[in-house]
Amino acid sequence: MKNNTKEYWDAVYEKGEGKYNALLQESVSLLKDFGFIKGTILDLGCGKGELVQNLSVNGSNTIGYDISYVAIEKGKLEFPLIADKLFVGDVTSIPENNDTIILHMVYAFIENKKDFIEQIKSKLSPGGILIISTPVRTPANSMYITRPEVSVTEEDVQIVKDTLGTFTILKGKYSVGDFMFIVAKK
Ligand SMILES: C[S@@+](CC[C@H](N)C(=O)[O-])C[C@H]1O[C@@H](n2cnc3c(N)ncnc32)[C@H](O)[C@@H]1O
Repeated sequence: MKNNTKEYWDAVYEKGEGKYNALLQESVSLLKDFGFIKGTILDLGCGKGELVQNLSVNGSNTIGYDISYVAIEKGKLEFPLIADKLFVGDVTSIPENNDTIILHMVYAFIENKKDFIEQIKSKLSPGGILIISTPVRTPANSMYITRPEVSVTEEDVQIVKDTLGTFTILKGKYSVGDFMFIVAKK
């Protein structure tokens, strides 16, 4: 089953897999460092909502969307305080005018990357912040070169930068080993 379908992700969460969040603390620190824990934050591909929970207890107005119904239902049970902040959906279902959108280990699973980034752009408020983190595979990166299904290429990174166009890149580098973080302002 292709890993960009809701059925695939439902099966992952049914099996009790999906304990990701390797870079959760890194994202929270980034948001704090940049002073972004304010306004509305949307975590797309939020899984069970661990980051939504973390940011909510840090005083933000954060909501999460995920394509997997199972992930969202499990998240509501695990994190009852944010149960009303978790929703099933993809980029086409999320609200407009978000101050911050987070894509945490999601970009690799998107088929039409340019179209996806275009849609994300349109869902940000003027001055809004986009944070993307994802593994990147390069010739020097043996770990992800053998895992193309969960990583992106440098060309895919360039698609983000090209599609964002006039956005200001506040941070864009391989900041944690082979993981890329891009922080961009509309
Ligand atoms: C590797 S997990 C990352 C989960 C979480 N963001 C984290 O960092 O721990 C990828 C998540 O993206 C979700 N996902 C995949 N494609 C999606 C899409 N097109 N729209 C929304 N969520 C999607 C999956 O259901 C899954 O929960």
